[in-house]
Amino acid sequence: MADKQATLTYNDKTIDLPVLEGSVGPEVLDIRKLYGQTGAFTYDPGYKSTGSCESALTYIDGDEGVLLHRGYPIGQLAEQSSFMEVSYLLLNGELPSKDELDDFTYTISRHTMLHEQLSTFYRGFRRDAHPMAIMCGVVGALSAFYHDSTDISDPEQRKIASHRLVAKMPTIAAMAYKYSVGQPFLYPDNSLSYTGNFLRMTFGVPAEPYEVVPAVEKAMDRIFILHADHEQNASTSTVRLAGSSGANPFACIAAGIACLWGPAHGGANEAALNMLREIGTPDKIPHYIERAKDKNDPFRLMGFGHRVYKNYDPRATVMQKTVREVFDALKVNDPLFETALRLEELALQDDYFIEKKLFPNVDFYSGVILSAIGFPTTMFTALFALARTVGWVAQWNEMISDPAQVIGRPRQLYTGPTQRDYVPVGQR
Ligand code: SDX
Repeated sequence: MADKQATLTYNDKTIDLPVLEGSVGPEVLDIRKLYGQTGAFTYDPGYKSTGSCESALTYIDGDEGVLLHRGYPIGQLAEQSSFMEVSYLLLNGELPSKDELDDFTYTISRHTMLHEQLSTFYRGFRRDAHPMAIMCGVVGALSAFYHDSTDISDPEQRKIASHRLVAKMPTIAAMAYKYSVGQPFLYPDNSLSYTGNFLRMTFGVPAEPYEVVPAVEKAMDRIFILHADHEQNASTSTVRLAGSSGANPFACIAAGIACLWGPAHGGANEAALNMLREIGTPDKIPHYIERAKDKNDPFRLMGFGHRVYKNYDPRATVMQKTVREVFDALKVNDPLFETALRLEELALQDDYFIEKKLFPNVDFYSGVILSAIGFPTTMFTALFALARTVGWVAQWNEMISDPAQVIGRPRQLYTGPTQRDYVPVGQR
């Protein structure tokens, strides 16, 4: 029983709503009995004031720009950890010992190959298919190949499916890229790190050895860490909702990929770089800032703004620093980075952005880095999906194990016609 109650008076009836307190962050008003007690629903399109579940994975303080994974600040994880270690942390709740990390990394490496039939699945797509269309299709098809890990009531099968998904996403994403450029697929090389293996499968060719550049591998691994999980964002909520019906994990992750594709969500990294290319040089920035402020203009600054962060997205801070590291390592420079820096500077001085608390988010700088490494913009969201898979899988496992979890089935405010009788077509 909650110690604290909130009181609601509605239609001359007063009810008490339990107030639940987490370990940190806003309290929640438990409205699970509201409809039964009042006959009214709550109404919250976009869920701006709604907590959908209890979770111990990721905490965000949007006002302070804080992001914790199992309590550890994203800045510390990005600087000191690895994507495999953060994946273990998200899936298991604690940082691993060296042996635990070695075992986990070994297990993941043993699932990096795809069923050979799946490589023919790619050939059904046009060569110019968007990689996210391929990711949706191939990941959704995994359940047709891995029947032995689709019984969600079996913890062992859930564990194997989780490892398969984390392990196979780099292979699936790399194959999507290879297919789009007409190059042969490369099999995984498990002597490489998770991220090094991905870089080789993406940029290597059978005709010659591929040397992983350590600074690029480190930057890519850090980018994966920055995208690993993010509380109950749209795609994670999609995975949870799909999972709440008992759908198999591969279908749930495919649903998450589909949702992530949208330009308001994970598709923003591709849209942000395309926006920077459209702006071109810094002298054009004021014009685009005015467009972003114009209510009659659908143009928005992509990579800016966030439902939760009303401060600087801590991931964008790390991302901006990583740009210079990659430029130095690859001895490249992209003038779009200067344009991005100037755009951020001018936007953050503008009252519109200040009042609406619009700051760069994780997607604002990522495209500059990914482009410098050699990825086409169409691959950016596929990379986001690759990294977010461990977060989706961890959230899905947490949901399945939550005794309070039932099938998600929101209600509505109905504004359509009230009941009326059918009129035969001859009498209309
Ligand atoms: C991700 O949820 C997550 O955690 C997502 C994510 C994750 O890791 O999973 O962090 C990843 O999706 C990051 C967000 C990527 N999307 C973009 O960069 C697209 C551009 N941003 C916007 O579309 C917008 O900011 C959203 C979608 C991110 C957030 O939208 P909200 O919370 O619904 O806010 P809103 O659209 O109601 O905007 C509030 C106001 C509006 O003005 P008013 O109607 O109040 O006058 O701010 C304006 C908006 O017009 N606004 C912008 C803007 N973003 C919001 N104006 C110009 N440019 C923008 N980018």
